[in-house]
Amino acid sequence: MKLRRKRYSHAWVDSADPIVTERLEVVPITPELDASYLALFDDDFLTTHHWTAAMVDALDMSLRAGRSLRHAITKSTAVLVLGDEPLVAIGFISIARNPKRRQNEHLIGLQISREHRGKGYTTEALPAILHHIERADISNVVLATSENNLAMIRVCEKLGFCHQAERYKHPDGTEEMARVYRVLPRQPSHSSTSRIDW
Ligand SMILES: CC(C)(COP(=O)(O)OP(=O)(O)OC[C@H]1O[C@@H](n2cnc3c(N)ncnc32)[C@H](O)[C@@H]1OP(=O)(O)O)[C@@H](O)C(=O)NCCC(=O)NCCS
Repeated sequence: MKLRRKRYSHAWVDSADPIVTERLEVVPITPELDASYLALFDDDFLTTHHWTAAMVDALDMSLRAGRSLRHAITKSTAVLVLGDEPLVAIGFISIARNPKRRQNEHLIGLQISREHRGKGYTTEALPAILHHIERADISNVVLATSENNLAMIRVCEKLGFCHQAERYKHPDGTEEMARVYRVLPRQPSHSSTSRIDW
């Protein structure tokens, strides 16, 4: 199976301008990070992102296949690495135009490895990433998640994102009513006891 090239539409991170937060760096996927990046595509990923094993195989092959396919993937996807440890991807974030949705709408996909969850890494990284992509002129960005993804919903609550319920079509073709958080352009702030200003 082939991954669709047009999905990977807008380069938003490059090694000359990494995104640096207190504990993390958000960097492009270099060949030395391939193994730890691909390890993030575990069973859990398949369920929460509605991917199939064949899609992961295609991604793996694309990374091996050479420059142009690698470039297509690494344009839209960056990995989170811990600043003071050996270079290992502890998570990834992709921001890519979604051909199934309105024109120019970009969709966020993200995954943190199991052993690094619940340590605040997504809450720490996401605001810095959104600031960065605003500067790269990506302005129409959504994050879609299932009603049962309580960790993702909690992160969005902490960051004060607003959502609406929308019928959502996943990469594997399934559809559900999902929470769609419109994260850029920024929404007017609303009151929340645990809102984090970003
Ligand atoms: C969703 C995900 C990216 C969050 O990343 P993370 O780095 O663990 O997030 P943070 O640590 O910044 O915050 C997680 C919050 O959710 C809370 N949480 C975790 N599991 C929870 C659960 N089952 N019920 C309620 N809250 C939960 C944590 O306690 C924390 O909130 P707190 O700071 O108030 O204690 C990560 O869990 C993940 O990779 N999940 C699998 C893939 C996925 O769902 N991706 C998103 C698809 S849209």
